[in-house]
Amino acid sequence: MKIVHSITDLRAALAPFQRPAFVATMGNLHDGHIALVDQAKPLGDVTVASIFVNRLQFAPHEDFDSYPRTWEADCDRLRAAGCDVLFAPRETDLYPEPQTFKVQPPAELADILEGHFRPGFFVGVSTVVMKLFACVFAGKPAGIAMFGKKDYQQVMIVRRMVQQFALPITIVPGETLRAADGLALSSRNGYLNALERSEAVALSRALQGLGQAVKTQGMAKRETLEDAAMQALAARGWKPDYLSVRRRADLLPPDDGDADTPLVVLGAARLGSTRLIDNLEV
Ligand code: PAF
Repeated sequence: MKIVHSITDLRAALAPFQRPAFVATMGNLHDGHIALVDQAKPLGDVTVASIFVNRLQFAPHEDFDSYPRTWEADCDRLRAAGCDVLFAPRETDLYPEPQTFKVQPPAELADILEGHFRPGFFVGVSTVVMKLFACVFAGKPAGIAMFGKKDYQQVMIVRRMVQQFALPITIVPGETLRAADGLALSSRNGYLNALERSEAVALSRALQGLGQAVKTQGMAKRETLEDAAMQALAARGWKPDYLSVRRRADLLPPDDGDADTPLVVLGAARLGSTRLIDNLEV
């Protein structure tokens, strides 16, 4: 695996190839990331991963400084997975001057759910993803990028960005990987103490329960059922931001006419000082 830090070296490494298959990460890689690399490999003629903890998508009070950085282990895992090129820009490589040009995703997609509770988050994500895409795909006729469905809203926003900017990139969503008890794999799971770790699966169970309840009791009861699910989590010591049933196509709340519309249940809640997110298609 070739490790490059500068954009120039990345482009030189990718010069012989036509169709990169790309996985963007912030490092601290777990099996979910590696599954994305595995799935990306056959979809391009060179497999590229990036590791970059993107300051732009963290609010000042969030965990940018403490975000887990596990460089050696990450390199070993990517090498073992057969990744061809690892792009690990330093902050000065990707942002040599303040990144004052930003990608502003549409409010109806980016200011709801995660974006409501993390204002500016999707501007930071869209901006860095656009820049990483420019680094990896510039001059290529086509390519693919895999994004995990655990960040459901992120996948939708990146997809829409690629479509509206007519980038020659296909966004391929990867299924969420779960621990044996059902907890969605996430770098932030590492923040949980033993007690919190055994409680953490309650989030995905709450999403499951809510999805089931809306299916059996009907869309008219949706808001009541969402409130009840949040209260049940709160009673277990969580601080839920949202548990919400949405239409998969646009992440808007379904109405009475949406009985047969594909839905997704999304949630975010804080357990101790760790904020976890998860979702489930129903
Ligand atoms: O999902 C992530 O890890 C990040 O949001 C991403 C896509 C790598 C952009 O920094």
